[in-house]
Amino acid sequence: MTSARLVTGSPVFKPERALFDRFDFGRHAVFSYARHGFIQLFRYLRARRDGHPGRLLFPNYMCHEVTGALRNCGFEIDFYPVDENFDIQVPELGAKLSDSGRDLLACVVFQPYGHVGRDLDEVQKLCDGQGVQVVEDCAHVPFPHVLESGLRPRWRVYTLRKTYPLPYGAAVTWAGSAGRFEDFSAGLPANRGGALRFLLRWVLREQIKRAVLASSIPVTRKYVDLSLDPLKEFDRPSRLLSAFLARSDVETVVQSRRRNLDAYRKLAPLFARWAQPFGFAPGVDIPYQYLLVLRQGFRPEEVAGGLLKLGVPAVTGLAIEDQVLMSLPPEHAFRRLVALPIHQDLSSSHFEKIEEALNVFNADLA
Ligand SMILES: Cc1ncc(COP(=O)(O)O)c(C=O)c1O
Repeated sequence: MTSARLVTGSPVFKPERALFDRFDFGRHAVFSYARHGFIQLFRYLRARRDGHPGRLLFPNYMCHEVTGALRNCGFEIDFYPVDENFDIQVPELGAKLSDSGRDLLACVVFQPYGHVGRDLDEVQKLCDGQGVQVVEDCAHVPFPHVLESGLRPRWRVYTLRKTYPLPYGAAVTWAGSAGRFEDFSAGLPANRGGALRFLLRWVLREQIKRAVLASSIPVTRKYVDLSLDPLKEFDRPSRLLSAFLARSDVETVVQSRRRNLDAYRKLAPLFARWAQPFGFAPGVDIPYQYLLVLRQGFRPEEVAGGLLKLGVPAVTGLAIEDQVLMSLPPEHAFRRLVALPIHQDLSSSHFEKIEEALNVFNADLA
């Protein structure tokens, strides 16, 4: 798997005191990609338990680029099931935890598409009972959001590039005094050039996205800024960080995403024929994308492709592992997902364009 060769990223930045103070986090480190953060974190956890086999439990709805990269670094991956609302199937997770026992290094929980998981305190208790670390994958929530739930995991992994207009960047945060940054970051492998390929791919993707957006939706200001010279932004963590620090008011981000969720709700009749919107909980979830579960007979690639042609940057759901996909019935919701942008930078004019595009899409279907 190509992504597996690209996992040599080291931290791009050693945290400054100012950052800790600003975000009120005990500790954090910034990485190029979230998967690099995961790898270094799990290496660190494994090193603390000499000779540990390093088995990790992930939710079965998880991008294979993450699990593939970890496997490639010698970790064993097992999955626990989440239901069609992405809520953890707690009894099944409990059984996995008991079966794996001492072989288990960590259990990853996540907030897919900004849907805040239920029963997280129960999960924390189960993991505590087995001496398993809980790591929260915050790839789809804005940094440095901390859930108002019973879950108090020591470790959180964020992807900055997914939620902010950055080409590059992820953060691992940890609470408490026992995790020493020195231990965590020591002996990291050198970056062996995978970054250049990433950069080229990113530039290409951004240009395509820009062309699509420019064709019918006004691009957001930050994307325009960055795309003027993306090379300058690359691998210069302080520039990247200042770009997002300037807009790091997490409450504003949360509010504008929830407001955008409402904007999509008003468009609901335009989806009705071919999709059922995912049931985000208003005021609780922080949508990362507006998620649609297609009705039977509609194919995600075709719907996303059709919308893309009309200028709406639609994508299909996460690329989950083949072994997980094979275990799901053909009509399972995870095979029928399409996601629309809900980014905090979307303005009312974007929504007008989206509405326009949906009208054309529906007319074409008729
Ligand atoms: C749920 C989830 N976790 C983690 C990641 C990894 O993020 P990154 O691409 O920054 O490694 C992704 C994205 O691929 C993701 O969707």
